Amino acid sequence: MEQVATNVHWHNGEITRTDRENMLSQQGATLWFTGLSGSGKSSIAVALEQALAKRNKLSYRLDGDNIRLGINNNLGFSAEDRTENIRRVGEISKLFVDSGVIVLSSFISPYSNDRDTVRKLHQDNDMPFFEIFVDCSLEEVEKRDPKGLYKKARSGEIKNFTGIDAPYEAPSHPDLHLNTDSQSLETEVDLILELMEKNGLLAAPTSQRNKES
Ligand code: ADX
Repeated sequence: MEQVATNVHWHNGEITRTDRENMLSQQGATLWFTGLSGSGKSSIAVALEQALAKRNKLSYRLDGDNIRLGINNNLGFSAEDRTENIRRVGEISKLFVDSGVIVLSSFISPYSNDRDTVRKLHQDNDMPFFEIFVDCSLEEVEKRDPKGLYKKARSGEIKNFTGIDAPYEAPSHPDLHLNTDSQSLETEVDLILELMEKNGLLAAPTSQRNKES
């Protein structure tokens, strides 16, 4: 989105991201969960948050339903509103990463372009970003239908519902591809921990980053 306000400049403080990460003994990062409603994104984030807490790692969950009840309560489910939803959450995730926190962002985020924009925002700021595809067949999520929304979407009571009459663009190269039709929650959490371990996110920071960042 284009900058509207003029004469505004980013103001750096005296304490850097590296300083904050050292205080927390961890590295900030965003784990981005994308998938159909009911695929298990939020459940995985909740279980992962617990697993990370056990390892003394501070994470924070950003979740579609919660964020839409607060900062994004002026957004609906048109393509434009979903894009704005994801843009804002991407910016919020970036701020959390800058604070040294591990962000667990769970949003349908149906458009590849929007997810790529969030990835780029992180990459441009030297921030770790991992796209996790929480894959589940439409058949299975409709069977689960935890909030009864698929039923309403099928009957036409809800319009623009992802997977029914609104698109979901599956990630082509996710950093991790989970299949919640067949995998257990425990396995899914283990696979994510493995990914984090491989990328040094479960260790203390090495303070290699430039002092200014
Ligand atoms: S996103 O598409 O903009 O990324 P987000 O993850 O924030 O969506 O919100 C999705 C949640 O909103 C769903 O889990 C569901 O509970 C609810 N919801 C209500 N209406 C819709 C709809 N038309 N399409 C998808 N989800 C909807």
